[in-house]
Amino acid sequence: MASSATFAKLDAASSTWIGHQSFSSRPLPSSRLAPSRVSLPIRAGQYTDELLKTAKTIASPGRGILAIDESNATCGKRLDSIGLDNTETNRQAYRQLLLTTPGLGQYISGSILFEETLYQTTTDGKKMVDCLVEQNIVPGIKVDKGLVPLPGSNNESWCQGLDGLASRTSEYYKQGARFAKWRTVVSIPCGPSALAVKEAAWGLARYAAISQDSGLVPIVEPEILLDGDHGIERTLEVAEKVWSEVFFYLAENNVVFEGILLKPSMVTPGAEHKERASPETIAKYTLTMLRRRVPPAVPGIMFLSGGQSEVEATLNLNAMNQSPNPWHVSFSYARALQNSVLKTWKGQPENVEAAQKALLVRAKANSLAQLGKYTGEDESDEAKKGMFVKGYTY
Ligand code: 13P
Repeated sequence: MASSATFAKLDAASSTWIGHQSFSSRPLPSSRLAPSRVSLPIRAGQYTDELLKTAKTIASPGRGILAIDESNATCGKRLDSIGLDNTETNRQAYRQLLLTTPGLGQYISGSILFEETLYQTTTDGKKMVDCLVEQNIVPGIKVDKGLVPLPGSNNESWCQGLDGLASRTSEYYKQGARFAKWRTVVSIPCGPSALAVKEAAWGLARYAAISQDSGLVPIVEPEILLDGDHGIERTLEVAEKVWSEVFFYLAENNVVFEGILLKPSMVTPGAEHKERASPETIAKYTLTMLRRRVPPAVPGIMFLSGGQSEVEATLNLNAMNQSPNPWHVSFSYARALQNSVLKTWKGQPENVEAAQKALLVRAKANSLAQLGKYTGEDESDEAKKGMFVKGYTY
């Protein structure tokens, strides 16, 4: 793509794109001023071809992302839930269990790591990154620096991490990462304020442009939190607003849409709303929102699970894949892939094999859901337990 596209140049002084507009010399009737006669500006970068290839690999049929990019503090919460201390050794044991699961690459195309894991080895001295690459799983890296209060807003937050990002992303590329993640949040009960939405969108767009310049496919994740007692219509309204701002700023920052992946929340009622919605309703609202806001140039939509139960997240994904979509519609779950694994492992070496099987069960179920073929039979009670925590922080 990069080699065949005609690149336009940015005139730094005027900050406008100068396209190579090759109109024919004979004026066309206005109805025939077809855009195909105009060279489309696309950001030229040394990595453009690779970005498109990486994004396509991650968005490959029947596969999705295993998100294990919890910060050390959040990983500590996971370990604490099974009575383990938050030590580097325990985090290594847990991540090793996940990343060395035999057969994982059949269902998982990418895995998002926390910085510690990107530089970590297994207890046998093998790089965690190599465990992934061997299974044709693309290594990814969380690059944001977390959320802090947004002054001037309605108790909302903004996501830090742009300072020094370009040097970090180049280092991560050298370490083997090929995609990145930046998670910011939008809270419906807090408004959301126009300021918070704009800040979220601008931060995501700057991060996306910087990541692409370093050869990393950016996952764009404005998580609309499940918190609140609002209905599904309100979530739809907020999601449309958020995604329109995000795409506005992505375009302003000349981000190559073919080389990004999205990580949206599904459009559901608030967690404290009086009624639950069926997977069909969630699929209808979510796809409506995406069709209205996401250009088909984007290769993949990789949903977060956001506190849904493992089974709910899989059923909802399955419902979204009952008819063809313009993009690959798949998963990038953390909680909805890890819950039964943790409960099976319990920190005991003799349970590692069973825990890896539990991971494969979830990965396969979501792979089937990506293909629209999940039936929901034989699921355990544990997998049906919701994981929503009010005011959850990552
Ligand atoms: P959940 O699937 O737990 O919501 O994870 C979201 C996330 O951003 C992890 O990378």
